[in-house]
Amino acid sequence: MCGIVAYMGEKQAYPILINGLRRLEYRGYDSAGVALLREGDLNVYKCQGKVSDLEAHTMGKELGGTVGIGHTRWATHGPPNDVNAHPHQSTSGDLALIHNGIIENYAAIKEELLHRGHSFQSDTDTEVLVHLIDDIQRSEGVDLAEAVRLALNSVVGAYAIVVLDRKDPDVMVAARKSSPLVIGIGDGEHFLASDATPIVEHTKNVVYLEDGEIAVIDRRKGLKIRNIKNQVKTPFIQELEMHLETLEKGGYDHFMLKEIHEQPRSIRDSMRGRLNLAKGEVVLGGITDYEQKFVQAKRILIVGCGTSWHAGLVGEYLFEELARIPVEVEYASEFRYRNPVINEDDIVIAISQSGETADTLAAIELAKGKGATIIGICNVVGSSIARVTHAGSYTHAGPEIGVASTKAFTAQVTVLTLMALMIGQRKGTIAGSRFHRLLNELDAIPAKVEKVLQGEAQIKYIADIYKEASNALYLGRGYSFPVALEGALKLKEISYIHAEGYPAAEMKHGPIALIDEEMPVFVIATKGASYEKVVSNIQEVKARKGKIIAIVTEGDTVVDGLADHVIGIPDTADPLVPLLSVIPLQLISYHIAVMRGCNVDQPRNLAKSVTVE
Ligand code: M6R
Repeated sequence: MCGIVAYMGEKQAYPILINGLRRLEYRGYDSAGVALLREGDLNVYKCQGKVSDLEAHTMGKELGGTVGIGHTRWATHGPPNDVNAHPHQSTSGDLALIHNGIIENYAAIKEELLHRGHSFQSDTDTEVLVHLIDDIQRSEGVDLAEAVRLALNSVVGAYAIVVLDRKDPDVMVAARKSSPLVIGIGDGEHFLASDATPIVEHTKNVVYLEDGEIAVIDRRKGLKIRNIKNQVKTPFIQELEMHLETLEKGGYDHFMLKEIHEQPRSIRDSMRGRLNLAKGEVVLGGITDYEQKFVQAKRILIVGCGTSWHAGLVGEYLFEELARIPVEVEYASEFRYRNPVINEDDIVIAISQSGETADTLAAIELAKGKGATIIGICNVVGSSIARVTHAGSYTHAGPEIGVASTKAFTAQVTVLTLMALMIGQRKGTIAGSRFHRLLNELDAIPAKVEKVLQGEAQIKYIADIYKEASNALYLGRGYSFPVALEGALKLKEISYIHAEGYPAAEMKHGPIALIDEEMPVFVIATKGASYEKVVSNIQEVKARKGKIIAIVTEGDTVVDGLADHVIGIPDTADPLVPLLSVIPLQLISYHIAVMRGCNVDQPRNLAKSVTVE
């Protein structure tokens, strides 16, 4: 949560910062601010609202300067308002600091600083940190970098920070612990940002700062890195593989819609080089060294949050059916706090689009500490989770900007399917003929997704009918149960309609009481193992006058006669149905949210990357 960006070079900083903040706005959008250093002045502008509000706020003001920092906030400590917006300053006004994370012991530090005569303007934990750095700088007579290092030694929590000092305008100091920070190295210029998206259009050379490292960017001496124990570190420069066009809307009204439509490609990219039809094999290079561990594993634990947790549930069905390994799927936030039983021969699969989710990171650390093997499934290359896991497979979905996760889900499920197939084949738990049939079916999925997307006009028509609903139910069984949960999450997070996902048969144990003629019930009723049972569940809803929108296998005539609306998807094997059935549910949510006038890409109270617990 919160996006930070900084620049030092020959160009004017302000346009670079604003552009960078726009790219990072998915991380938080309740207030924004910049600080610019120019000829001995430190100009700070900040306000409640979005980056566009900040631009309006700065209109006509002094915006010159070739050094600057910028921040877009997702509030934790203190409500979203002008005062709590970043950057925060020291009392003298010499220092300005931006922060992504939480300083957990801020109250104790604040009390100490109050005794020492400091006064505070905001409710934030961040303001405490800038005062602490200022206090150390003065009392110890040290430069900014050393003051930052000493201050961070007494801080508990998570941070990515960048600090400017009016007295030393050619130096910028940054540091990170548990919150991401990327440094872009250009020609005579440096960039800092929460992720590479603000950097990619300026340079492809980046350094991912490691936990506990402090970067000092000096206009004359360039970049130096040391850690908070004062040990010098050698920057490891990597080349970015990101492309600018993947960060633009590309003609779509919203990132979410673009990302939904990208799924034929993103699923294909997640299979590329891994699924080899000619050889009849699956090879996930990132985990081949751990193949034997998988084969011998007594248990797999899957951890994740939100949509990634839903993908994990699909993974449970896949691994149990295809590789015959018992699986437990855990909310990372629960897992980390309940002293779970973890053994050294357990495999923990951590799933995360951003690779930065705080709860998932903490769950990994816990399991790692107990000796388990940790396998990551992440989308963001170089992200914290990708770096702390023992091994893993990236999803190649490309940047996902819309807060509602769409293409990341199908890419995660694709990678989980490949993993389960690969391990199942090595273990001999899938019959050869079935294995080959599933490979062929998986290979055909992108084209089938394309076909589902062609039905968007019908989905829009259905969205229009149900756009005023106050509640909705989503039902599915087997592989479609996690899809029901995902459909409900999509609807509630972007359209603010209350929605619940249930295993279809569980409905009669409670939720059925909610059904009346006002209740839209989305049912995944594709041909397969549970088809007849789901048809019975549809009958039960129908008998109570619920409105049924059914996702069916193309050509189905039985459900067609029962449901109010049917959306046909191409036939495929049961384990692959989630990759198709989720698409209409994503589109329904998108169109309902647009029709309700909601901000689809930046829903209220949410942020894309949840880096606080
Ligand atoms: O980046 P992650 O996959 O770890 O994020 C997990 C959740 O925060 C995320 O899936 C969230 O639930 C989305 N807003 C769902 O659309």
